[in-house]
Amino acid sequence: MIDVSGLTKFYGPRTAVNDLSFTVNSGEVVGFLGPNGAGKSTTMKILTGFMPASAGTVKVNGFDVFESPLEVKRSVGYLPENPPVYLEMVVEEYLKFAARIHDVPKAKLKSAVDSALQRTGLTQVKNRIIGNLSKGFRQRVGLAQALVHDPKVLILDEPTVGLDPVQIIEIRELIKSLAGQHTVILSSHILPEVTATCQRIIVINKGRIVAQDTIERLTTRMRQGLLYTLNVKNPSENGITALKSVGGVKAVTAEGGTLSIEILPEQGEIRDRIIEAAVASRMGVLEFTSEKLSLEDVFLQLTTQENNT
Ligand SMILES: Nc1ncnc2c1ncn2[C@@H]1O[C@H](COP(=O)(O)OP(=O)(O)O)[C@@H](O)[C@H]1O
Ligand SMILES: [Mg+2]
Repeated sequence: MIDVSGLTKFYGPRTAVNDLSFTVNSGEVVGFLGPNGAGKSTTMKILTGFMPASAGTVKVNGFDVFESPLEVKRSVGYLPENPPVYLEMVVEEYLKFAARIHDVPKAKLKSAVDSALQRTGLTQVKNRIIGNLSKGFRQRVGLAQALVHDPKVLILDEPTVGLDPVQIIEIRELIKSLAGQHTVILSSHILPEVTATCQRIIVINKGRIVAQDTIERLTTRMRQGLLYTLNVKNPSENGITALKSVGGVKAVTAEGGTLSIEILPEQGEIRDRIIEAAVASRMGVLEFTSEKLSLEDVFLQLTTQENNT
């Protein structure tokens, strides 16, 4: 549904997005996760045809964003960082306006607006002036304008930023309810946002993709590049050498009876073999622990390490 290849964007001398390639399948909800300044908004502006790229190609629903901008805009709903809502307009009128600029045929205008109002829970406030609504409701209006032409693809830039916790939960539920019917990409700089709503995440840092996978697989993959700690009564050179020779062990460092065992990434389960080596060398095993990485740690690792791919 979305096919991005070699996408690059320079702002003058600064590279905001550097050689991004990814695909998003029909009906998927994908999270674009990265710290502020990572290049999320820039990528989204290019995907929606609001800004040209410096290099690379983007295809949405089979159309090239640069060659067929109108077709792309018709199949995409976009909620920018700062929602384009006219505060002095009445909700329903504004949505009619949004539907018209998205080429919704006149005969379908009313049903399109009613459906967007209903799906975003705005029906009761449709006659209110947008400027008088709470921030959470204004954000719903922003979502409603992205939805009103029933686009195949929804691109939502930090959809819950600035909302209170109750509003955040409501908007997340709303986004989840869109999965399946729409292909959704949403961006966020906070991890719980994407774990709450997305099936897959693309982690972006300094304009580059540093990881992309399902949430579970990302956690698992990082866990395998683990650190184990072995506490022993009688540390010995022989024992440490035995541990180092276990397949998959990268390094062993000792501080008294505390042995830190670093594991190479992607090793699978090797704890049995480590413990066997420790027991066989008669160091007197007292305790064996593994450092558990939360997805939070994974995100930090991915966005703070320099040389990862
Ligand atoms: N219009 C612009 N002119 C110059 N630099 C920009 C502009 N917009 C964004 N940038 C820079 O590009 C980088 C990526 O920004 P952005 O895409 O907004 O990141 P994010 O949305 O992930 O916070 C940042 O370093 C930002 O300062
Ligand atoms: Mg942004």
